[in-house]
Amino acid sequence: MTLDEFKRACEQLAADGPALIAAVGDLVAWGELRNSLVGRTGGRLTDIMSALGSLPKEDRRAAGQLANATKVAIEELLETRRAELAGAAKTVAIGDPSMPARQNWRGSVHPVSLVIDEISEIFRELGFSIALGPEAETEWYNFLSLNFPADHPAMELHDTLYLEGGGLLRTHTSPVQIRTLQKYPPPIRILAPGNVYRRDFFDATHSPMFAQIEGLAVDEGISFADLKATLTHFARRFYGASRRTRFRPSFFPFTEPSAEMDVEVDLGDGRGVRWIEIMGCGLVHPAALENAGVDSEKFTGWAFGMGPGRIAQSRYGIPDCRVLFDSDVRFLEQFAR
Ligand code: PHE
Repeated sequence: MTLDEFKRACEQLAADGPALIAAVGDLVAWGELRNSLVGRTGGRLTDIMSALGSLPKEDRRAAGQLANATKVAIEELLETRRAELAGAAKTVAIGDPSMPARQNWRGSVHPVSLVIDEISEIFRELGFSIALGPEAETEWYNFLSLNFPADHPAMELHDTLYLEGGGLLRTHTSPVQIRTLQKYPPPIRILAPGNVYRRDFFDATHSPMFAQIEGLAVDEGISFADLKATLTHFARRFYGASRRTRFRPSFFPFTEPSAEMDVEVDLGDGRGVRWIEIMGCGLVHPAALENAGVDSEKFTGWAFGMGPGRIAQSRYGIPDCRVLFDSDVRFLEQFAR
């Protein structure tokens, strides 16, 4: 090979390279092109380089420099194109074309929080104040103080998540009844919203964590009539006076008598209008009052525990509770005020 031929080969490669590199559309094609241009075996540049040895000695230095400059230019172009293709590949892989653009995302209050706020407001007007308690509880506050017999299957009514070292995650907000009565002697009226935990599967009607709102009123002379009147007032305020509600007899170790309140609702799941349970309630069991240090001969009380998730489902017609745990803004945005 002469120096002129060598130069022409380099110039041809430098001229062809940019168009070829720009034309590859994905990383596989890029890899093939790279091999054909600068690959160790069969690459055009490698072939040119191997011709160096056949040049007259005095031309080799200039030829080598030219070949090197060509190589650097081609490799730079290849690298730029590789980075472009890799970026595009990533966008395709994680991109959901139906996702709203980020700048259109608007935050909003979660429907469960909306419901908690609204319920708190209705009870605030009735003289209830907010009380809170810990989510990591002791067996005594969660069960024993609430008149669950020790080692009795009643404790298995709630599938409990126990903590290392003896504690547990509260299975209901009812321990706040005891904690509050210990601190503030009656008369009291409190509302205790918070999260509770149960060993449940995550399906359309269960989740291992969910919100509850506990209500408690303790005073002299409180009767079941107070419970019914207050909770019926709540339902009328919350759902409107025309919505039907009902009380059904039930059982809880810490209330006697006990009831459950249902509301008639169409969840929008194709099953039409039906009764769904929104809370448990009852007159506070004398043993629970005594365990909190309250004289059960003097005071009586009533309590309820409602599920604001269930109530949000009933209010907004949400058939599957799992969407309440979904962070998809397209779900949340529907509740923006
Ligand atoms: N703690 C009960 C539950 O989680 C609900 C309840 C609260 C019932 C207060 C009666 C009184 O199922």
